[in-house]
Amino acid sequence: MEEDFTAAERDALYKAIFSRRDVRGQFRPDPVPDEVLTRILLAAHHAPSVGFMQPWNFIVVTDPQVKSRIHADFARANEEAEAMFDGERRSLYSRLKLEGIREAPVNLCITCDRERSGSVVLGRTHMPAMDLYSCVCAVQNLWLAARAEGLGVGWVSILHEDALREALGIPERIVPIAYLCLGHVTHFEATPELETKGWRKRLPLEDLVFRDRWERRAPEIPSPPGERVRVRGSRSKDFQASRTPQPHRLHAVHPPHPSPLPGGERGIAPPSAGPTQRARNASSGPAVIVGRAASSSCSSAVCRSVQADRSTRGAAVASSHSASGRASSTVQAASKRARSAS
Ligand SMILES: Cc1cc2nc3c(=O)[nH]c(=O)nc-3n(C[C@H](O)[C@H](O)[C@H](O)COP(=O)(O)O)c2cc1C
Repeated sequence: MEEDFTAAERDALYKAIFSRRDVRGQFRPDPVPDEVLTRILLAAHHAPSVGFMQPWNFIVVTDPQVKSRIHADFARANEEAEAMFDGERRSLYSRLKLEGIREAPVNLCITCDRERSGSVVLGRTHMPAMDLYSCVCAVQNLWLAARAEGLGVGWVSILHEDALREALGIPERIVPIAYLCLGHVTHFEATPELETKGWRKRLPLEDLVFRDRWERRAPEIPSPPGERVRVRGSRSKDFQASRTPQPHRLHAVHPPHPSPLPGGERGIAPPSAGPTQRARNASSGPAVIVGRAASSSCSSAVCRSVQADRSTRGAAVASSHSASGRASSTVQAASKRARSAS
């Protein structure tokens, strides 16, 4: 196997990354050839996984009845999600197309078998959610491979986990990770639809990168590659469009103001605010995120597992603090001091 990528190969990889989109509304009905489906599933299967566990399965859904059943659950979940927003924001939400379940020729559910390689897994012992994250790596491999094959993929998470399990016969011990819609498309959008429709903007990379400790700025890291990197040899129209520069610094282009988007989305905080504050303020609100509402009660298996992971780690930290005789408030005060010193 070749060790290095040629410049053209590297460009091709970046092209797939920057021109990948979440597709909801542009699916064409023509079938996806089996050999293409096999290739992208193989790409997913070559994702990294904790302890080389390969905990995934792929349920390929083409039966219109199964799709309709899942779509009916989406409709219910989406109504619940919409009700979590108010006023203009709700009205904007109701106009978003957030799935392509019935139009896409193929639907695909990626699952996680948490017991695939026994109860003790190399790399998972202290961070139990790692098998779930491994499956998400498989999703991303598949998404990029599909883009390279000219196929669109849309992730639908506005679903009730129980309904999904029932529709697909997924047993209790298996965790559904992703429900994807897949197929040829009329075109790929240049920009995330949630951005063009005014829901939320891409954050400046420089606000998200820290060096050595939380919130210590790394000003030498430039803004997003999509804004700056010139990718050679990319002539295709959709990719040219996907590289249309975004504003270099959103907060410079859009001066901070309280409600730049309908429904009270908060403005991006001024440069004087910390990077985390700016990133937070650019969000659509603190609690409700498109596609996350149906599981916002955190009753899903994934959510429970991540919470368990956090509390395990929290407990480990707490016990180490008490063992050394330090109250957690002292630790918090010390870390606050360190933060303000940095
Ligand atoms: C875990 C996850 C769940 C998502 N759920 C949904 C969803 O239910 N409906 C939807 O329209 N998009 C969903 N998306 C797609 C995001 O909205 C999309 O990735 C984001 O707006 C950025 O756009 P892009 O993927 O085109 O770059 C999901 C994406 C991820 C990673």
